[in-house]
Amino acid sequence: MLIAQLTDLHVCSAGRPAARVVETNMLTERALRAVAGLRPAPDFVVISGDLTENGLIDEYKNLAALLERYLTMPIFVVPGNHDRRSNLRQILPHLPGVSSDSRFIQYVVEEFPVRLIMLDTVVPGHAHGELGPERLDFLDRSLTAAPHRPSLVVMHHPPFRCGVASMDSIHLRDSAAFTSVIARHQQVDRILSGHHHRMIIGRVAQAIAMVAPSIAHQWILDFDAAAPAALVMEPPAFMLHHWAREEGMSSHAVYVESYPGPFPGLTDPEYPGHGGAVS
Ligand SMILES: [Fe+2]
Ligand SMILES: [Fe+2]
Repeated sequence: MLIAQLTDLHVCSAGRPAARVVETNMLTERALRAVAGLRPAPDFVVISGDLTENGLIDEYKNLAALLERYLTMPIFVVPGNHDRRSNLRQILPHLPGVSSDSRFIQYVVEEFPVRLIMLDTVVPGHAHGELGPERLDFLDRSLTAAPHRPSLVVMHHPPFRCGVASMDSIHLRDSAAFTSVIARHQQVDRILSGHHHRMIIGRVAQAIAMVAPSIAHQWILDFDAAAPAALVMEPPAFMLHHWAREEGMSSHAVYVESYPGPFPGLTDPEYPGHGGAVS
């Protein structure tokens, strides 16, 4: 089974770049076209928040048109700090689960071999994330219902610190409480998030916790605590998570832009492994 994870699309109103410089509508279109061209096709797509730049109706309309144009497989979304729940529900009501809870955009996807717990970490008006008792209880109850099925948790805000001060100031605030829930449910294999706009891998209890790169701009990697946050145009990418019952899950970054190659992996006669597999 193949899962494509896209994150932080930041789709804008027509003709408006995000943060004055990033053509996110064009970049979203390129990423969706790349996903549509994958063979084998992903079984479904998850989008882990910041679907739009400002959560405006026009922005969701642009996103809805792009999704309809390129994707035929099921799409599951959670909101990010740039989204507005009511506008998302109004323009994308056909996406499964977005209206299954009256307060939050949170739901469980049951119909695939890997179960998805889609979590809403948004605190309206703030960049950081927080679950609070009600959403932590939803997570706990959802996982208690199927203790033996491999599960992924999808959420916008990363639930671990990564050492970059500007990122750690806006991560999931109640990550300790989140971690203790995950520790009680050993079937959670991976936690998929976005928000930091670059690939980061951590751990939450037994689960691998991943931040996917954005399909638009990335945030600069700078461990100097005094450094201001800044965006950079590192190559956009998305994640392909491959799952098989015997092998479990592996996660692969896929770059959207074109690049040189493929070249045949020819080796020199002097290569010690000559005649064997090349890498
Ligand atoms: Fe974002
Ligand atoms: Fe975000």
